[in-house]
Amino acid sequence: PLVFQSPTVEPFRDPLPPLPSLTGSDFEVRAASGLHRFHTDLDPSPSLGYGGMDYLGPTIEAHAGEPTTVAFHNDIATHPFAADFDTSLHGLSERDRTEVPTSMHLHGGVTAPEFDGHPELISRPGEGFVHHFPNRREAGCLWYHDHAMGVTRLNVYAGLAGLYTLRDEFDTGRDDNPLGLPAGQYEVPLVMQEKLFTADGRQSIRSTPLVPQGRWEGGAVGDVGVVNGKIWPELEVARGLYRLRLLNAASYSVWNLYFGNRMRFWVIGTEGGLLDAPVPTTHVRLAPAERVDILVDFGVLDADATVELRNDEAAPGQAAQIGGVLMPLLCRFRVGRARGFTGAVPQTLRGGRRQPAALPPVPAPEVVRNVTLTQPTELRLPPSIMSLNNLTYSSTDIEMPRQGTVEQWNIVNATNDPHPVHIHLVTFRVLGRQVIETLRYALHNPQPPIGTRWTPSADPFTISPLIPPEPWEVGFKETVIVNPNSITRIVVRFPTADELGFDPDATFGPATTGRAATPAIGRESGVHDVHLGMDHGGTIAAPPLQGYVWHCHILDHEDHDMMLKFRTVR
Ligand code: C2O
Ligand code: CU
Repeated sequence: PLVFQSPTVEPFRDPLPPLPSLTGSDFEVRAASGLHRFHTDLDPSPSLGYGGMDYLGPTIEAHAGEPTTVAFHNDIATHPFAADFDTSLHGLSERDRTEVPTSMHLHGGVTAPEFDGHPELISRPGEGFVHHFPNRREAGCLWYHDHAMGVTRLNVYAGLAGLYTLRDEFDTGRDDNPLGLPAGQYEVPLVMQEKLFTADGRQSIRSTPLVPQGRWEGGAVGDVGVVNGKIWPELEVARGLYRLRLLNAASYSVWNLYFGNRMRFWVIGTEGGLLDAPVPTTHVRLAPAERVDILVDFGVLDADATVELRNDEAAPGQAAQIGGVLMPLLCRFRVGRARGFTGAVPQTLRGGRRQPAALPPVPAPEVVRNVTLTQPTELRLPPSIMSLNNLTYSSTDIEMPRQGTVEQWNIVNATNDPHPVHIHLVTFRVLGRQVIETLRYALHNPQPPIGTRWTPSADPFTISPLIPPEPWEVGFKETVIVNPNSITRIVVRFPTADELGFDPDATFGPATTGRAATPAIGRESGVHDVHLGMDHGGTIAAPPLQGYVWHCHILDHEDHDMMLKFRTVR
């Protein structure tokens, strides 16, 4: 059962807040506690924010090929969800409630491992870390957020997320950009979330009474849409074309987004950059951490018309059982009288004279790898555990692709929910999806106890042809929706050190403030994780860290334990 206790507040009362932006090449971003008013009629709620904001963070504007440094600092005095920390996860202790661990990850960044915000490379209050980002990738909408082991879901939900916009010579972000895209006031980022609020208006992470407070919940859903930090805000738009940059920054839910009048819009880009040409559609499905750039023509509406951005996908799991869409509404646009951007939807985005090169065909894989998403069956009751390859985070049985090789990953989802799978460092292409008979697959491949790799091929159990990617999924991606009871096939090339300009397999750390990821799951199953070499209390006796992580971007899942390390080796 779900408890939706959010107080009823009037939608569209608050204007959509613009997100302040920072330009330059050296940035300082401090994470601090705040009090944030999510709605005019609600009292301020305890929150966390970056860079002087009470909630979320300023947009960092950077340019492809021009390195930046981001000095991150942890100034967190109190955590809004201190009582929700689950100290049975990953060696967390009472101390963490007050000396909150953080790490900052640039999601979408192609970043040396030591600057990647590794979940175990944490900063405590009073400490910081200077990140170096080479920005050697094409323009796109990236984001930075907390990634600290075992508390990511609490830190991000509390507010530690911000955009990082990368521009290049084509997608300049200026009015005279050669692609003819709306820019300036006609380019609007929407950081979208769903939340629960308590009766007194505080943001809450507790969606079910089944799990006592202080225990991992498995999924923070909400009934209230929050965009750029405001509940159901409204944006007044001019009559003309807009570029909206959508980020699903929610903890758990996949949304199927559409405009209330079912009007057509165009998807122009995804996580890794632009598509070859705008794709007309009337909906787009977006999972946590996925981004799409869309063009919307408000010029087709009358002055004073309003149109809502809505969701009609039922939240998975619990919610599907009660059959409803829990969070149907995000925000509203009100069309003003003024004429806005007068350009038309471009015919092409890539492959022309003053455009980035056309998308190459999906390369042929040299290696095929099966990986699995499971919810180990011996641990049914909440708090349970989610797993990749039937392993836990501190497993040493990790993927080690060779640098310079193209691999096909068959991501087998043997659970009943969709999971957004994200791989750090790389971008990939989606080949397609195939439905499988999960029951037969599992019967033929008995699952060992958690902690032992379980990655049998599901190819003999497919019951559908290869379903091609959605039209908006054909570009470069780094997060992909892996549907339940299916195989999602992606093709990923692991870059070489030469191409990257850094060694992706360099060792680093251990963090001077490091802490152990131990024992992660002992409490229910009696299985204890491999110790990373640090004492429970955080004393360092550790081998250095190495590599990156790949994980489910449902924040609750990556905390416990749907995240694994990987290395790319020479
Ligand atoms: Cu958005 Cu591993 O993160
Ligand atoms: Cu998941």
